[in-house]
Amino acid sequence: MKKFTVAICGCGNRGLSYSENMAKNPDQYEIVSLCDPNPAQIEKMKSVLSLKSASVFSDPEEFFKEKRADVVVIASPDRVHVPQALKALALGYDILLEKPISDSREEIDALVKAQKKYGGKIIICHVLRYAPAFVKCGELIKSGTIGKLYAIDANERVAYWHWSQAYVKGMWANMELSHPAILAKCCHDLDILVGYADSECDTLSSIGDLSFFKKENAPEGAADRCFECIHKDTCPYSAKRIYIDAWHEAGEPKFDWPFNKISLVYPTTEKNLIEGIKTHEFGRCAFKQRVDMIDHQMVQMTFKNGIHASLKMIFAEASGRRITFYGTYGEIILDERMDEIQILPFGKKKTVIKIGDLIKGSIGHGGGDSAIIDALYEMLTGTRDMTTSLAKSVECHLMGIAAEESRKAGGALVKVHA
Ligand SMILES: NC(=O)c1ccc[n+]([C@@H]2O[C@H](COP(=O)([O-])OP(=O)(O)OC[C@H]3O[C@@H](n4cnc5c(N)ncnc54)[C@H](O)[C@@H]3O)[C@@H](O)[C@H]2O)c1
Repeated sequence: MKKFTVAICGCGNRGLSYSENMAKNPDQYEIVSLCDPNPAQIEKMKSVLSLKSASVFSDPEEFFKEKRADVVVIASPDRVHVPQALKALALGYDILLEKPISDSREEIDALVKAQKKYGGKIIICHVLRYAPAFVKCGELIKSGTIGKLYAIDANERVAYWHWSQAYVKGMWANMELSHPAILAKCCHDLDILVGYADSECDTLSSIGDLSFFKKENAPEGAADRCFECIHKDTCPYSAKRIYIDAWHEAGEPKFDWPFNKISLVYPTTEKNLIEGIKTHEFGRCAFKQRVDMIDHQMVQMTFKNGIHASLKMIFAEASGRRITFYGTYGEIILDERMDEIQILPFGKKKTVIKIGDLIKGSIGHGGGDSAIIDALYEMLTGTRDMTTSLAKSVECHLMGIAAEESRKAGGALVKVHA
């Protein structure tokens, strides 16, 4: 069995998730190199994975001077994905590239051209394409269970605390590091809509705004940091509630997301979490940030084969996608919060599939995080098609770019392809 050596560029949450899944398959993958400008992230990775002999780089420039492994996982911030992938291709790597690829048509085009020139494989981390419940819905639609699919209504509900963490206080609130939310959060959702519609998108329109996370909506007397705030025990956005109270309620996990975002020290302790919320960006007031990002967005799409779709990206009580597929002879509802897929053929008995039964122990993004690593091996060895190749992943990015153009133009109808 061929074993691939792997280098991880970007050792944050995603780099760790893929590495942990790779470490479960030591016959297939060996992590030999780590790169991250933050030494604490590298130390965390070494502790969690018990990596002793991996070469480590704190300077990405240095890391990309030579080829360090067969495969590189690029899990760095959004804006360096393409520059790093271009260097990796020139060095002869195959690449597992985090989404989003880019919010620039020119940059995406440059990457597509470079891949043709150098020939390395690029697999984009659109993990939902591998998640069992999402795969099941695609199979049900293809097999004609609901007749001919004519419309899709998708909702990406992001838990209120997660939204405030990532898109208000975190790296994704800042356009210098991130891409617009419709790409940063929802290129997954646009990508699965392309897959279900089985067509390119023709036109779309989009609206959305930053309506809530503003200074004027802060509770009266709110402090700049949650730990010093009079509302720290009552405000749902309080870092104390999100990272300390919730950690206790969750049974004090050893090193789980989101607690391992606030303190990189392994294993997690209350002392480290308190230190984290006193100093980390996630410990700041959610209403007093400079936010470039919107806090909700909606997109209406017409695919070239006539299928209509809508997507809502909203912050909500709990995370979980809900997608309704409307066919000429039935309906399917995928609801992650209800943990079920309902199959509703017109005039016949309803069937319910529990998503938990499909996932069976796989983890992250409905099992997609582990499933992509299993599939990656076959994609690298050429024994299966590349489900989320660069070529297949361009469409949803063009849709995201068009959606942002439409949103900025007040909801104007935009053609996705010139
Ligand atoms: N596929 C998914 O479902 C999914 C989910 C969440 C995030 N993401 C994407 O994954 C990427 C990483 O997100 P994350 O949640 O791991 O963030 P993170 O903040 O936890 O980790 C990012 C890491 O990159 C490091 N870094 C900064 N500049 C770098 C550089 N120039 N080169 C290498 N490393 C650098 C940071 O120090 C940090 O350790 C982002 O692009 C994000 O949009 C994808």
